[in-house]
Order: sequence, then structure tokens, then C-alpha cells
Amino acid sequence: MSQIRSVIQGTGSYLPEKILTNADLEKMVDTSDEWIVQRSGIRSRHIAAEDETTADLAIHAARKALEASGFAAERIDGVIVATTTPDQTFPAVAVKVQAALGIPPGLAFDVQAVCTGFVYALTVADNFIKTGGAKRILVIGAEKMSSIVNWEDRTTCVLFADGAGAVVLEAQETDGQGILSTHLYADGTLRDFLYTDGGPSSTGAAGHIIMQGREVFKYAVNHMADIVGEVLEHNDVSAETLDWLVPHQANLRIIESTAKKLDLSMGKVVVTLDHHGNTSAASIPLALDEAVRDGRIKRGNLLLFEALGGGLTWGAALARY
Ligand code: ACO
Repeated sequence: MSQIRSVIQGTGSYLPEKILTNADLEKMVDTSDEWIVQRSGIRSRHIAAEDETTADLAIHAARKALEASGFAAERIDGVIVATTTPDQTFPAVAVKVQAALGIPPGLAFDVQAVCTGFVYALTVADNFIKTGGAKRILVIGAEKMSSIVNWEDRTTCVLFADGAGAVVLEAQETDGQGILSTHLYADGTLRDFLYTDGGPSSTGAAGHIIMQGREVFKYAVNHMADIVGEVLEHNDVSAETLDWLVPHQANLRIIESTAKKLDLSMGKVVVTLDHHGNTSAASIPLALDEAVRDGRIKRGNLLLFEALGGGLTWGAALARY
């Protein structure tokens, strides 16, 4: 049955110029390339310049997504940015993107769900579109995680990185193209496993990432296995019909365990964390854009997005590209 759905009309991404390798990190903290690759799968990551902000990254990615969609800025009626590292406490990064791209007044705000941020933002945008609140929304995941990393803490500084990814969603009456379902969760009782030791109303400073990696890992493996099962059941589709899993890029072992649960070969999983690191809310749209531009993801492909992050928050979405 045909219905109004959010169709991905264009993707874009941006990575800062500077590359930080595991060898570089060996000179900064007591770590090794072998440990980082074995435990996480990460080999190198991009780090923003000191004067380069999250909005700068978001604007680059958004511009590319807009170009790919073929829409002029005047035709966009909403901007939603998923970020944990905004330039300022306010205004939102989204309004900076809106102004920089010449998008006319319309809804523009940020969503904060850490590494699940992009799935949350996609869900919010999808609901605006499905209920007629907007016709074309730019959804962006953008992070300067390097600004909240404690560069002396080897347990976290080897993981996080900077970047931005974006998609343009458009309301279209379709028979099965577009976002098919989204699924969001949070369990605030688990918030102490991953947090920053600061914030505007507590310390007055952004603070730094503190993570109990082993605990987060355990929840990630279990929640990702559960949520991908939920998505398939909800849509009455089998794992074999999936063309691509586009997961949050936190840890290769978590991704492999989700693929295994789906009985999906790793050849159907978009993995970018080896050269992107964990870019939090930016990681899914970055991976998506890379795979769209290199031709792996094609029109008509069935895509599954999934993520888990601080909060703890977790979520997934099924979309036909
Ligand atoms: N180099 C060398 N040794 C290290 C490093 C390092 N960079 N970091 C930690 N170690 C040591 C530890 O001190 C520990 O030593 P010990 O056994 O003597 O105490 C040992 O290595 C093992 O540490 P673990 O933390 O148990 O290592 P683990 O295998 O769990 O891997 C990792 C750590 C990679 C962080 C993993 O737990 C993980 O990926 N967790 C999930 C991360 C995640 O998904 N986060 C969610 C998204 S992020 C967000 O929302 C912002």
C-alpha cells in the first residue's frame, strides 16, 4: 500500500584534514597499535583543527548532501543536527547550518543522544515528514569528540574522533521506499557507564568522557542483538533480505557480533571505523555516505542502521534506499 514516507534523496559527509594514527597515539599515551586494533579495530581517525567547530564539519557535510539531492537550499524546510559536542551551549548547531546554507526559516534544532543521536534525529525527522510537518529535512550527525576527550586517558582517547555526515529526507508517496520503521530506547539507570564529568549547569565546563568500556560493551552486544531482531520482526522481513547493515562504528567486535546474530556475512556490513574511529552521532551517516559514493549501496537496497551510546541510549532504523 502506498503511503507518505521519508526517502533519502542525498547523502554527504566530511572529515577533517588531520589524520591521527595509532602510531601517533603510541607517542601520546601508554598504548600500542596492536592493542587498539585488536580491542577496537581502529587504525586511524580524523581530528578537527583547533579552530574548526562541529558546525564547520556539519556545514561541509550538509552542503554535499544537498548537492547530491539536487535540491536548492530554498526547498529545505527543516534542519536537525545530532550532536553531543555543539560549538556553544546555545544556539544549536542546526541554526548555524541553516544560516550558512541559506535555508529559509523553518524548524532547526539539535538532538542529543550521544552515539545513538543520528538514529534519534532520523526518527524525529521521519515523524515530522510522515505527519506533514515538513517536506524536506536535512538530518546531520556531527561531532568534535576530540574536544571532550581526555588526551591523557588511554582507555578513551584511542577510540573517539571527529567528522560529520548528512542526509536529505523528502516526503514521498511510495510503495516501500524510504524509512520503514525506527526503534528508540534509553535506560537512564545505566547513565554512569558513559558520561562526561561536566556540563553547563554542574561544573560550567563541558567536561571529559568517562567510560566503563567493558560494561558498555556488554550492553551493546546484547541490546544490538535484541533490537535488530525487533526491527526484522516488526517489518516482517528476514535477515537474508537485508542488503547492508550500517552500524554505529564503535567497536569491530560489537559489529561482528551483531552481524553474527543476523547470520549476515561481514561483506554486507559497512565498516569504516578502521579509518574513521568512533565519531559518535556522525558515524552512521559517514559510513552511509562512504558506501553510497563508492557504489556499494545502490538504490532499492534494504538498509539497517543501529547504534548504542551514552545514556545508555540505543536505537535502530530500517530503510529502503
Ligand atoms: N592501550 C593499552 N592498554 C589499554 C588501553 C590502551 N589504549 N586501554 C585500556 N587498556 C588496558 C586496561 O587498563 C586493562 O588493563 P588491566 O587488565 O591491567 O586492567 C586492559 O587493557 C583491558 O581493558 P578493558 O577495558 O577490559 O578492554 P576491552 O577488551 O573491554 O576493550 C574497549 C576496551 C575497546 C573500550 C571496549 O570495552 C569497547 O569497545 N567498549 C564499548 C565502547 C562503546 O561501544 N561505546 C559506546 C559508544 S560511545 C558513546 O556513546 C559516546
